[in-house]
Amino acid sequence: MSTTGHIRAKTPEDIRNAKGGAPLVSLTAYTTPMAEMMDDHVDFVLVGDSVGMVLHGLDSTLGVTMEMMILHGQAVRRGLKKAMMVVDMPFGSYEESKEQAFRNAARLMRETGAPAVKLEGGVEMKETIDFLTNRGVPVMAHIGLTPQSINTLGGYKVQGRGAAAGKLLADARAVEEAGAFSVVLEKIPARLADAVTAQVKIPTIGIGASAGCDGQILVVDDMLGLFTAFKPKFVKRYGTLGEDGRAAIAEYAEDVRARKFPAPEHMFSDVEPAA
Ligand code: KIV
Repeated sequence: MSTTGHIRAKTPEDIRNAKGGAPLVSLTAYTTPMAEMMDDHVDFVLVGDSVGMVLHGLDSTLGVTMEMMILHGQAVRRGLKKAMMVVDMPFGSYEESKEQAFRNAARLMRETGAPAVKLEGGVEMKETIDFLTNRGVPVMAHIGLTPQSINTLGGYKVQGRGAAAGKLLADARAVEEAGAFSVVLEKIPARLADAVTAQVKIPTIGIGASAGCDGQILVVDDMLGLFTAFKPKFVKRYGTLGEDGRAAIAEYAEDVRARKFPAPEHMFSDVEPAA
C-alpha cells in the first residue's frame, strides 16, 4: 500500500533489491484476464514476444511486431494492480542502433504504461543497455538461449556448455555493468546458472536454468497446459487447460447437435417473471 491507501505496484528497483532474498516469481501474460489471475501471486509479469507463438500461431518469435507488443501490453496493464510489468522488445526493434532502441523502448513504455522493457543479448547489447538505462528506461536483459537469434544459434539448443560458459559469464557481467536491473538466464546448465547468480549483483531469473536462481519465469500457456504444440524439458505443467478446453468444446458440440443445449434454464419465457 502507498501512503494514499492505493495499492502500490512493484517497481524495477523492487525487483533489483530482491537479489538474494525470497525467490522472485514471474510468468508471462498477454491478456487482461490472465494478468488479473496472476496479479496476487507473482512479483512481475512479462508481456513476452512468445505471444507470437502461443497466441498467434507463429513458428518463432521473429514475426512479432511493435504493434503486437503494444496491443498485448495494454491488455495486460489493465489486469495488474500489484505486479511489476515488463514488455519484450520484439526482433528488429532495437538491434540496429542505441537510438533505435531508445525510440522503440520509449514508445513501448508510453503506449503500454510498462515501467521496464526486456531485450535479448549480452556483450553485444552492452552499449545499448547503458544508453537506455541512462535515459530513464529500466532494462531486464535476457542471455543464454535467446529465441530471436535461433537462426544464428542453430536452433533451441542448451547454451553455455563447455568452453561457451566463459562467454555466458561475460554476457552476464556486461549487462550488469551496463545497468540492467535483472537478467533472464534461458536454457543453460544449472551449475553455470548458479555461478552467474553468485557472481552478479542483479537478480537472475531462470527459465531452464537452476532452482538456485534469484527467481523463475515460465510461459503461462506452457505451465497451464494450454500450449501443447510442444513441451520444452524445462516446463512443468501445473494444469491441463488445453485438454479440458477440448473436452468442453466437444461436449458443447454434442449437446447442440442433440438439441440438449440450450436447456430450459438458458432460455426466456414470453412472460415477465414476478419481481
Ligand atoms: O517471450 C518470452 O516469453 C520470454 C520468456 C521465455 C523469458 O522471453
